[in-house]
Amino acid sequence: MENLSKQNNPQELEPITLVEGTEADLETFFALEQKLAGSTYWPETTKEQISGGNKFFYMVKIGDKIVGQIQYEKQEDNVVYLNVLGIDPDFQGKGLGKEAMKQFLSKVSDASKIWLVTHPENKAAVKLYESFGFKITERKENYFGNGTPRVVMVLENLPKYQS
Ligand SMILES: CC(C)(COP(=O)(O)OP(=O)(O)OC[C@H]1O[C@@H](n2cnc3c(N)ncnc32)[C@H](O)[C@@H]1OP(=O)(O)O)[C@@H](O)C(=O)NCCC(=O)NCCS
Repeated sequence: MENLSKQNNPQELEPITLVEGTEADLETFFALEQKLAGSTYWPETTKEQISGGNKFFYMVKIGDKIVGQIQYEKQEDNVVYLNVLGIDPDFQGKGLGKEAMKQFLSKVSDASKIWLVTHPENKAAVKLYESFGFKITERKENYFGNGTPRVVMVLENLPKYQS
């Protein structure tokens, strides 16, 4: 028990940084999407979704090591859609998702609203988002056309984090 809680202590890991991804990171991005693929997570990302315009993607890094990724889109009226938040399974449960969310929120601090979809049984994701104030507003069956449901989660009063 002692060891496990130490292992899960984010203080024991180097701090993460969000580094804007480039063309050169696309292969790594998709490889991690594949690694994360599961019944409660459906890698929907295409090259068009992550590059250019109002679309932003970041690699979550500890030093040079890529431990996760984030992709989001700025929509009309200052609304932000969080399309991808993924932490490498080897690094999950150590507080990195929470830290990545804080850094993401500091980047979009002027958003009027942030929304996302996740699987209702994706307990880690739902709990993580709820801890930042996201609320489930809707449930959609067969969301991706593959028979699986998703809940829409919305954050309207953004917590403030320093970038
Ligand atoms: C969801 C995900 C990003 C969380 O990242 P993580 O680094 O493992 O999460 P953290 O260690 O920062 O935990 C943050 C919070 O999430 C919740 N959480 C994390 N793992 C959990 C689990 N297995 N069960 C329940 N809650 C969990 C907890 O509320 C935790 O906070 P707490 O420890 O203070 O209670 C990660 O599990 C992941 O990449 N999953 C696969 C991809 C995915 O589903 N992405 C979201 C799709 S929208």
